[in-house]
Amino acid sequence: MNSSGSRRTLTDPFGRTVKSLRMSITNRCNLNCIYCHNEGDYGSTGEMSVGTIVNIVKAAAEFGVDRLKISGGEPLIRKDLEEIISALPPLKDVSLTTNATLLKGRARSLKEAGLDRVNISLDTLDPGKFRMITNCKRDILPNVLEGIDEAVRAGLTPVKINMVLLKDINEAEIERMLEFTKGYKGDVILQLIELMNFKGAAPYHVDADLVEKELLQHATDVRTRIMHHRKKYIINGAEVEFVRPVDNTEFCANCNRLRVTADGKLKPCLLVNDNLIDVSHASPDELPGLLQLAVSKRVPFYSHDTYGQEK
Ligand code: 5AD
Repeated sequence: MNSSGSRRTLTDPFGRTVKSLRMSITNRCNLNCIYCHNEGDYGSTGEMSVGTIVNIVKAAAEFGVDRLKISGGEPLIRKDLEEIISALPPLKDVSLTTNATLLKGRARSLKEAGLDRVNISLDTLDPGKFRMITNCKRDILPNVLEGIDEAVRAGLTPVKINMVLLKDINEAEIERMLEFTKGYKGDVILQLIELMNFKGAAPYHVDADLVEKELLQHATDVRTRIMHHRKKYIINGAEVEFVRPVDNTEFCANCNRLRVTADGKLKPCLLVNDNLIDVSHASPDELPGLLQLAVSKRVPFYSHDTYGQEK
């Protein structure tokens, strides 16, 4: 038996045990961010039914997978999101990655359905920059801010703000964003994210070492999370996490997640596309074997000598 009470685990050839699923439930999105990686899924339009989603999560839970992150596209576009969440088996942590433009009016029903917390994509507090980054002509930043307020009130906490660092756009806004999160007295945490080069976004890449040095200078405490080897800085009593996925062997070494695409394919890594396993029509009997097959194909994208293979 493992700690989750199940006998079997999903452990890959590199000794990494999958503990969490990152599942896209739609590729549709109401924004069009300049750098978006689309969760590594292009072009597919199919969407899993509630039944398929629940079967996959149940099968994974049997292997001790006790965390689920629901993402998109924009997951709140699906009207049946509450139905999906309430049909899930008991898990330690169910979270949602959203742009929060459609969160207002639904935070409470999501919480009641069983959602634990939300990660909100918000790169800037400047309305003009927000429109530029998201390619959205309407001024919907206020909707996002109301969404954050409502998420905090509904207890979808800690709310994590995902801020992708973009050269000459928002790199000078970290302090302002920290002040913003501090106003929520611990209920909102800032998560800085290093840009990965999708959609030709490389010119916006910010040197993560420089940012990290800057954070270190201001921090009163630094901790390291096992997941992705993320660093957590405490600055003026506020918490800042830094996610550095690029060229980071430790990021991959500590990765414990398996992705599921919106149309129902198990995807061992965001950055690898030739090892997908279709489970969209799999029966509950077939799912355990297919999960094991997908996990057997997990390879650390940024490899390391200790893995005995070159990148
Ligand atoms: N680089 C880094 N993070 C990205 N995200 C999307 N595209 C990229 C990229 N190119 C992350 C953001 C967003 C979440 C949905 O995916 O953190 O909040």
